Amino acid sequence: MQRLGVNVDHVATLRQARRVRYPDPVTAAALAELAGADQITVHLREDRRHIQERDLRLLRETCQVMLNLEMAASDDMLKVAWAHKPDLATLVPERREEITTEGGLDVNGMRELVKRITRSLQDAHIAVSLFIDPDLEQVRAAHKTGAQRVELHTGAYCEAATEEARTRELQRVVDAARTATRLGMRVAAGHGLNYENVKPVAAIAEIEELNIGHAIVARAVLVGFERAVREMLETMRHAAR
Ligand code: PXP
Repeated sequence: MQRLGVNVDHVATLRQARRVRYPDPVTAAALAELAGADQITVHLREDRRHIQERDLRLLRETCQVMLNLEMAASDDMLKVAWAHKPDLATLVPERREEITTEGGLDVNGMRELVKRITRSLQDAHIAVSLFIDPDLEQVRAAHKTGAQRVELHTGAYCEAATEEARTRELQRVVDAARTATRLGMRVAAGHGLNYENVKPVAAIAEIEELNIGHAIVARAVLVGFERAVREMLETMRHAAR
């Protein structure tokens, strides 16, 4: 079965809505771990709209599973990563005005920058993953940067309006995962996954990790964090059979 990375950004979104101390994403991360999460994922955005550097610092001190920092490929974020030493850094594109990460990195378009940031992170013993669209060109470009991992953007699959489009987008994810695996890379996937659409993705053998945030946090508001994480793990387990 795939590993589950629980993204706790939107616990911080709720806190920042009032600029108070609660709910604390660090507490949510501890509950996610107790429920069986394999990884905690946070995106420290340039505009600090949800996760703050304080969260990253405390998570680094308290997190007992892998800590995955999603970050823009920039020198400012490189300094943050050096300071807090996550186990894994996932390079993502970032645009200030976007509601969420809208597409994958254009690795070809920024190859030298991505290469340099990747090498600097690896030199600090931080594993690097590149968040890319499920596109074979991007997979090959990612491989050439020296990153050992990719995370495939599942947004187009999740948002597909018709069954036909959904099948086509899922196949792109499968093909990209196979190509990356053949190149010797480790493969994760995420974005837009929920308790329904996760099933076919959880059944893709080449994908070893899913990062899921919004759907889990949204369910947690109603049923509690541990239960929401356990139900996601259960859904993935069934689908993987
Ligand atoms: N993976 C990456 C690289 C992301 O940027 C995000 C969104 O922050 C996710 C996974 C999780 O997406 P969602 O919140 O839609 O589950």
